[in-house]
Parts: sequence; structure tokens; C-alpha cells
Amino acid sequence: MSSPKLPYRFLGTTGVKVTSLCLGTMTFGQAGIGLQDKSVIRPGQSNEQESHEILDQFVAAGGNFIDTADAYQSGVAETYIGSWLVKHPELRKKLIIATKLFIPMDYSDPNSGGLSRHHIMQAVEDSLKRLKTDYIDLYQTHMWDFATDIEDTLHALNDVVRTGKVHYIGVSNVTGWQLQKIVETNKKFGYPQIVSLQVQYNLLCRETEWELVQVCQREKISLLPWSALKGGMLTGKYKRGTVPTDPTSSRVAWVEEDPSKRWFESQPSYSEYANDDKYWALIDTMKEIAKKHNATVAQVAIAWLLKQPTVTSVILGARTKQQLADNLASVNVNLTDEEVKLLNEKSDIPMPYPYGVIDRMNKFLQRC
Ligand SMILES: NC(=O)c1ccc[n+]([C@@H]2O[C@H](COP(=O)([O-])OP(=O)(O)OC[C@H]3O[C@@H](n4cnc5c(N)ncnc54)[C@H](OP(=O)(O)O)[C@@H]3O)[C@@H](O)[C@H]2O)c1
Repeated sequence: MSSPKLPYRFLGTTGVKVTSLCLGTMTFGQAGIGLQDKSVIRPGQSNEQESHEILDQFVAAGGNFIDTADAYQSGVAETYIGSWLVKHPELRKKLIIATKLFIPMDYSDPNSGGLSRHHIMQAVEDSLKRLKTDYIDLYQTHMWDFATDIEDTLHALNDVVRTGKVHYIGVSNVTGWQLQKIVETNKKFGYPQIVSLQVQYNLLCRETEWELVQVCQREKISLLPWSALKGGMLTGKYKRGTVPTDPTSSRVAWVEEDPSKRWFESQPSYSEYANDDKYWALIDTMKEIAKKHNATVAQVAIAWLLKQPTVTSVILGARTKQQLADNLASVNVNLTDEEVKLLNEKSDIPMPYPYGVIDRMNKFLQRC
């Protein structure tokens, strides 16, 4: 496979350039994911050496943007990135490293998660130690916290920026009103604005467009989609009528065997799509488009995201070096406007009230 040159895009209005593909590291480390039971080993996870090889491969392809979280395997993913950085000190200043906080890190301590000042101050120090770095480029809240006053959270985040321990702030997993509230609160206090929103966005998750994409467009916030391949369901590797049965072969098969093993709510099982005609029609369309571009279905899924407004960098998930090579080559797939339109139609979902009526009436008004 030819080695792709990854293009750069601006991160929000920061002037910082990040590659349009970002390396996700949720697959680094083999046990738990901020869960109490750390004895649970999931398939599709990498040990330290494999994780370092994936980082090497990503950087060799020109990637400069890495996403992690304190909770990924309870600090293990950050630790692996840190031990890799120690081997490559010359790379640190060239990389944009993003991490997150919110998910409890120690279930014996009720204050080891959330977005309180108490936790933020501790979490920054812990992430810096694990990552073996003096600063975090992009520090992201992993989720909205209903217990903490958003003003308290943003005061504390502004403070960690002022110390230089964090360069930019981003958020993840929020609703439209929550995102706008964060933006307005930062404006009210004159704090540096958030630069990115990390949310699930893919051809099987278009709800993101109803509010979040619009806020990002209006406020010039970079959208960083996660689960571009819907945990494997947008790769074309699953066949209609063939239930994946080997739980060691893929995450989807592992969850299929026992849905209670699902470690985050968006990780699908095969059964959810097994009898969904619309899903199989979408996959067929993706296969046809992939064939025209001499590409893979996974590449088409990522290439579609790269064409969406406000998307700055798609966060890749890869279990193997071959999967990473496949996903990196998606930058070579330039979908036509007609292909994007067709994929939009095939993946379209009806907008519930009030989104649907607002959309329809505005389109009507534009035609008048
Ligand atoms: N902010 C958040 O709450 C949040 C949540 C989730 C993820 N994330 C970030 O987003 C990153 C990506 O998320 P994700 O892992 O859910 O992404 P994804 O792209 O939807 O799924 C990745 C999985 O799909 C399979 N796969 C990947 N490339 C493939 C290919 N070319 N061909 C066939 N199968 C392929 C692999 O699983 P199998 O081989 O096991 O099938 C891989 O582990 C994470 O690492 C993390 O950094 C953030």
C-alpha cells in the first residue's frame, strides 16, 4: 500500500495545524477501560510494544495528532504514549497530544472523576506524569458533568491554561445546549474559547448534525469525530446472514457473544444491524463507491467524514498495523459531490420534532 501524505487542517482558530487523521489510542492496553473490573481483557487491544509500533507507523506516515484519555485502560494508554515519547524525545514538540478527563480513575475515591476544580487539578498532574511531558496540547472534558457548576469547571480549566500545563481546551460528548453554554460562559469571563468538539459521528450516527455541527460552524470549533467505522460495522467485513461467532476475532463479535461486555454504549453488536435492510443497502453502496476508487469500505467511511463541514481531523481506531495502513490511505480517496450526496441519502435518518419541522420550513422559506 502506498504511503499517504497526510494533509494538515487548522485546529479551530488556534493557527495550529493538525493532520486530518488523528491516531486514537483507546485500543492501547489490554484490561478494563476506567472500569472497576480490571481483570476483563478485551480482544482487539494492544500491548505496549504493539502500541509503540502503531505510534511509529502513524508518525512515519506524517501524522502529528494523537488522542488519548486518562481513563483508557485506567491510565495504561497514556503510560504507553509516555514510554514511547521517552524513546523519541525529538518528536514531542512536533506532536499535538490530546487527552481527556471525567471518567472515575479510582472507584475507592468518590472525587477521582468528574469536572470539579478538585479533580481537574489532580487529573492534569496525573496525565502529565503518565504522558511524561510538561504540557498537554489539547485537554478535553470527556463528558458533561451535571454535578459541577460549568463556571467552576471553566475557571479551573482556564487556570491550567494560564500555568502553561495545558495549551488548548476541548470538549467531548455534550449536547447542543451544553456546547453553546460552554461557549457563552467562556465569552462571559473572557476565557480562551474551546477549540474542539469530540463526538461520535459516522454514517450510522448522523444525529450529530442536528445541533452539534451547527454550533461548531457558528462558533468555529473543530469537530473531531470518533468511531468513524462504528466500531467495525462500517468496514464491510461483516456479511448478511453470517453472525460473527469468534469473540477473539473482533470487538463486534466479542460484544455479540455477550452484549453485557459492551464497554461503551456506541460499540455495536452484529445483531443490531443483522436484519436492517437500510444498513445493508448502505454497505452495498459503500462497496460500489469503494470499487470505483480502488479503495476499501473503511476508507470510504473515513473519506465521507473528511468531506463534512467543520470536521478537522478524524480519529482513527486501529487494532493492527494493517488496519492503520488501510485507514491512513483514506486521505487518497477523494469522493465526488455525487458520491457524498448518495451516501447522505443512503444514511439519512428522519429528524424528530422539532428538528424536522424547523428544517422543512426553512427549506420551504428559501424556495419562496
Ligand atoms: N470521546 C469519546 O468518548 C470517545 C469514544 C470512543 C472513541 N474515542 C476515540 O476515537 C478513537 C477511535 O474510536 P473507535 O475505536 O470506536 O473507532 P472505529 O474506527 O469506529 O473502530 C475501530 C475498530 O474497527 C476495527 N477496524 C479498524 N480499522 C479497520 C479496517 N481498516 N478494517 C477492518 N476493521 C477495522 C477494529 O476493531 P476489530 O478489529 O476488533 O474489528 C478497530 O478497533 C479511539 O481510539 C479514541 O481515541 C473517543
